[in-house]
Amino acid sequence: MARKLGGRIPVLFTVFSLVVVLCEGLFPTTMTLERAFPVSGDVELSQLIARDRARHGRMLQSTNSAGVVNFPVDGNSFPVGIYYTKVQLGSPPQEFYVLIDTGSDVLWVSCSSCSGCPLTSGLKIPLNSFNPMSSSSASKISCSDEMCTQAQGTQYSNMTCSAQGNLCSYSFQYGDGSTASGYYVSDTFYFDKVPRESQTANSSVVFGCSMAVGGRLTETDKAVDGIFGFGPQSLSVISQLASQGITPKVFSHCLKGDNAGGGILVLGEIVEPNMIYSPLVPSQPHYNVNLESISVNGQALNIDPSVFATSSNGGTIIDSGTTIAYLAEKAYEVVIPAIDAAISVSVQRVPTDNFLCYLVTSSVDNNFPQVTFNFEGDASMVLGPRDYLLKGGSTGGNDLWCIGFMGVKGGLTILGDLVLKDKIIVYDLARQRIGWTSYDCSRSVNVSTTSNSGKPETVIVGHSPRILPEKSILWIATTSILYTLMVSSYMFL
Ligand SMILES: *[C@@H]1O[C@H](CO)[C@@H](O)[C@H](O)[C@H]1NC(C)=O
Ligand SMILES: *[C@@H]1O[C@H](CO)[C@@H](O)[C@H](O)[C@H]1NC(C)=O
Ligand SMILES: *[C@@H]1O[C@H](CO)[C@@H](O)[C@H](O)[C@H]1NC(C)=O
Repeated sequence: MARKLGGRIPVLFTVFSLVVVLCEGLFPTTMTLERAFPVSGDVELSQLIARDRARHGRMLQSTNSAGVVNFPVDGNSFPVGIYYTKVQLGSPPQEFYVLIDTGSDVLWVSCSSCSGCPLTSGLKIPLNSFNPMSSSSASKISCSDEMCTQAQGTQYSNMTCSAQGNLCSYSFQYGDGSTASGYYVSDTFYFDKVPRESQTANSSVVFGCSMAVGGRLTETDKAVDGIFGFGPQSLSVISQLASQGITPKVFSHCLKGDNAGGGILVLGEIVEPNMIYSPLVPSQPHYNVNLESISVNGQALNIDPSVFATSSNGGTIIDSGTTIAYLAEKAYEVVIPAIDAAISVSVQRVPTDNFLCYLVTSSVDNNFPQVTFNFEGDASMVLGPRDYLLKGGSTGGNDLWCIGFMGVKGGLTILGDLVLKDKIIVYDLARQRIGWTSYDCSRSVNVSTTSNSGKPETVIVGHSPRILPEKSILWIATTSILYTLMVSSYMFL
């Protein structure tokens, strides 16, 4: 398709716009942002860190070593709306915080003297910019480089050779209209191999150095240093490391859904007895799966299956870089009324501009139906209420929960963090399939690896250490909200 998938940045703001609509329109005196987003206390966080340490103690006891690479994870699906990790690049290494994005392919970070790149972040992470001149191992990719030819093949990037210095350059446009442009460099990329946490290895990879960003990427409230594309194409870091024989052609994540957030991100296959797999649609630039039908409380809805057909602007994509979930318009129009019909008439409806919300007096688990996405290969993804509802706030002791699906004009269905969280998701490029199972992502997982003897073995990976042990990630944007309403109007129903 002619653009990168996204909605990732407008989605964040759309979610925030919801909160403001509620505050200003419906319950002006009784609802505040603070009450909408209870902040985790320090005690809870210190417990979390202690637990992580205990897990890492266990990890250190494992003896085998091959293949698995572990990244820290921070962020949450709501209210932060993004998950991000930390990478180290160059010699000496420089640190960067990057969005974990399975909907795009390239790793890029802000380049020194970037135009428009934010200098501070509301996530309270220190922002950095990459300076190829101060890295002894950096080399710029020239237009004639084979890597540049490969990059030219990616559908949504405009390759140009800058007149100055014969540099292999890129220009990305994301689904929300934001842009990033710069040039490719090759430099040292560091990663932690498990089971030995302290065992840092390195390899040379090609990534982008962004000289200019535009649109939402210039905003500071959720600013990160760049985007870490985990897509299937050859320029993604996972493809580069796999083709160098460093990692297996499979990676997995388990994103924790509550406010504490964080989770697990490994290059390797998380093994769990209850995994369900559906084949990837072949030869797609993204992780496309074939959605065949949607059920509410086990009842298949009457949606023409052609609504889900994969095409240049249709189909179903698994995308960790998107916050909520988008349904093709024709499916959305059926799914929302079906969910609503399954909810007791005694639950108070609170419609807002973008979402249908409910004032819930008891637990959502008892009042809302199960929604099931049925994929090719008898593979069902069962969503409980917390996998499709967003908590929008509370008033008078009652919580407001909103159905977190949005309709998209045209046919694209995007499954973002709202539905991917609290599950193990395995992106198995080797066997061309996506796997999932519900899981408490604060628990350890077993990751399959192949030892030097060629025998498959497993290592245990714990909940990743928090990047920043601070409650500050719950910082709330207020100035960006106006934007949101504007952006969402052109992209969404
Ligand atoms: C790619 O280049 C064409 C022609 O120069 C231009 O019209 C288009 O907007 C560019 N697309 C991006 C994503 O920069
Ligand atoms: C990269 O890894 C090699 C071992 O594979 C090591 O000798 C070298 O010092 C590492 N380089 C850096 C910059 O850490
Ligand atoms: C990992 O595998 C072992 C052996 O199969 C099993 O006993 C253990 O419960 C598994 N752990 C997790 C977290 O799945």
